Amino acid sequence: MTSTDAGSRRLLIRDLAQLVSPGGRSAPLRGRELGSVDVISDAYVLCENGRIARVGRMDDLPALSGDIEELDARGLSAVPGLVDCHTHACFAGDRVEEFALRAAGATYEELHAAGGGILSTVRATRAAGQDGLAGALARHAEWMTRAGTTTFEAKSGYGLDRETELAQLRAIRAGGGIPTWLGAHAVPPEFEDEGADAYLEFLIADVLPEAAAVAEAADVFLERGAFDVAQARRYLSACRKAGLSLRLHGDQFTEAGAVPLGIELGARSVDHLEVTGERGIALLAGSDVVAVVLPASALFLGRPMPPARALVDAGAALALATDFNPGSAFCESLPLVCALACTQLGLTLEEALAACTVNAAHVLARADRKGRLSPGFDADVLLLASDDWRHLAYHLGGPVVHTVVRSGRMVWGSPA
Ligand code: NIG
Ligand code: FE
Repeated sequence: MTSTDAGSRRLLIRDLAQLVSPGGRSAPLRGRELGSVDVISDAYVLCENGRIARVGRMDDLPALSGDIEELDARGLSAVPGLVDCHTHACFAGDRVEEFALRAAGATYEELHAAGGGILSTVRATRAAGQDGLAGALARHAEWMTRAGTTTFEAKSGYGLDRETELAQLRAIRAGGGIPTWLGAHAVPPEFEDEGADAYLEFLIADVLPEAAAVAEAADVFLERGAFDVAQARRYLSACRKAGLSLRLHGDQFTEAGAVPLGIELGARSVDHLEVTGERGIALLAGSDVVAVVLPASALFLGRPMPPARALVDAGAALALATDFNPGSAFCESLPLVCALACTQLGLTLEEALAACTVNAAHVLARADRKGRLSPGFDADVLLLASDDWRHLAYHLGGPVVHTVVRSGRMVWGSPA
């Protein structure tokens, strides 16, 4: 094996048992197209300067000369590097105490109302400082890489003050993530007396101008005990005016109007949807808003699973994500999420793969270069430790990730 300088960096992944990429050409995929994948047996991928230059069958591999790094992938299969479009990976500390209390019978909403939950992570995150946050994010990003994720979004929302919200967004950006501003995650203790409206006023006047320069999107927790429709509309409208695309946490515990509001404002996605009913499903299906479902979060909290099958059948654009965070989903593994999608949500393996690659890339406005193994796309490749790609979802919690390639470089695992 030889390596070359960045000027003409080439990596040939050869002798793959299978090379698998979502079908269709457009994004997001819906309906029948969501369930189709292209499979090439006995395949190769040629990466050049961080992009995919060619894919094909080994029989058709052209003669290559010059410096080229080779990766022997016999017995392995390749899928696109996974895209996690919804995480809260920038947090300090953990919530193992709360997990133990929940295991002994307390509920997530009770702990939140008692000043624990999100607010306990806010205390730890405020205390961490910029370096502490960068270190925590780096640790969590490495966990995600080991799980096969090559692109991740991460939200702020554990600062809830100007300095820490901005520190979170900067740490996410510096750590290779795509930052989303979730200032409207909870009302912090210092605004307890003045209330949610005063807190939002502060966010819009004092934090938004700088947050908008770092983040790509804004998000809000629209829920009983958090923010209502009028408050979410005000916050998101201001964020949209500042150039951010919009996301919503909605229908996690109550159907409180997130789906109609997301459609009204042209949001990129509404996420969670555990309690979305027939009307919400029909509204999403008739819109461009992506339904992002988070089955690890539903599992972790013992909540009902979101109606993913009904959403897909109705024609909605669906994406899968982890919701990785210390409280409601301490899980960074998209392969595990795919397993849950196939066992709990009624999705096919093909639908699950598309939902955490091309459709997730669409949520992050990157479907033109992430989420497919096609020429011109970023050379983000997940090599699975099986000659059948379906082990991605089949091997529940197992060591399915063999090697991870990002931008044409091995970032996890090792050549055989
Ligand atoms: O997506 N629901 C609101 N926010 C997060 C949980 C955050 C936390 O518990 O720390 C979620 O589940
Ligand atoms: Fe979330």
